[in-house]
Amino acid sequence: MNTPERTPALRRAKILGTGRAVPERILTNDDLSRMVDTSDAWIRERTGIRARHVVKPGEAASDLAAQAGLRACEAAGVDPATIDCVICATISADMALPSCAVFVQRKLGAAHGCPAFDLSAACGGFLYGMAVAEGLLRSGLYRRILLCGVEVLSGFVNWQDRATCVLFGDGAGAAVLTLASEEEQEEGRGILSVHLFADGTQAEALCIPGGGSLHPTSAQTLAEGKHLIHMQGKVIFTHAVRNLSSACQAALSSQGLKPGDIDLVVAHQANLRILEGVAQRLGLGMERFYINIDRYGNTSSASVPIALDEAVRAGRIKRGDRLLFCALGAGLAWGAAVVRW
Ligand code: UT7
Repeated sequence: MNTPERTPALRRAKILGTGRAVPERILTNDDLSRMVDTSDAWIRERTGIRARHVVKPGEAASDLAAQAGLRACEAAGVDPATIDCVICATISADMALPSCAVFVQRKLGAAHGCPAFDLSAACGGFLYGMAVAEGLLRSGLYRRILLCGVEVLSGFVNWQDRATCVLFGDGAGAAVLTLASEEEQEEGRGILSVHLFADGTQAEALCIPGGGSLHPTSAQTLAEGKHLIHMQGKVIFTHAVRNLSSACQAALSSQGLKPGDIDLVVAHQANLRILEGVAQRLGLGMERFYINIDRYGNTSSASVPIALDEAVRAGRIKRGDRLLFCALGAGLAWGAAVVRW
């Protein structure tokens, strides 16, 4: 194990199987209205969220990711022991050190000694992970990569700040990626393009300022709440609508496609109004967007793979369908991808 041979492939990478896992505990808008000065009506109207799942004490990101990963392996028809690389897109790993991915490798029973690492791109994490996994597969380094998007943001939310605590939820989604077969390649199926972007000038618009090398944890950083999520919601909102639309256009035009050619948009679920803005700019009706923000809230890097898994299992995605993925979050980091299923 772990002595990969490099045989660069001209074939595309593809998603072989997907899975998801969310904690059992559900927190409704009414529950939140008993904790902070908010209401079900405000949250639904401004975000589209009705409920979110949150972990119970002792439940960590790797528990959810491993569960989602096992389901993805099952759906893909692969033995977890044959997974030769584990990538976790997350900003809420079990511990500051080591990575969430090593716990997932252990809990999943992936190939002994296979590489496992985390990738930090917040809500854009799953798309960044797709680009990395695609590159590793096409370079011939690995053959079956498990990519998880997982967050337990309930541990990083300020439960006294109504502007943020109503938004986020916990969960995990996962996908097994491998190279397309010759037949799939000829049929034009697989990951057609992944376009990634970042804008560090907006880094502080959504951040957890404490606990890193700039503000190491101290009694003062804790008292100031620096270990919790800080967000300028309006700034993120404006950038999200504009940047997601242009990323989608870039991904589509790289393939000579128009928005109308897309069967389903699998987008990061941060705010229903953001997606309505993107739909309007792309000239698409909302029926082309898979929506589940009402039940999960914003699960950051988990939201795209959770939505994908739900759509697949609900029969919303058929062989040969053209899918458009897009996500934007802290960083700012964002991207879009076109996949032929
Ligand atoms: O995953 C990617 C990262 N995050 C995002 O994409 C989030 C992007 N931003 C958003 O989704 C929206 O900006 C929010 C949902 C966060 C906020 O919606 P908004 O329409 O931009 O509201 P706002 O921040 O302008 O606040 C409007 C009012 C304020 O009251 P005043 O100053 O007008 O009296 C807020 O204090 O709404 C108030 N408010 C609330 N009221 C009831 C803020 N949060 C709440 C709340 N319940 N939970």
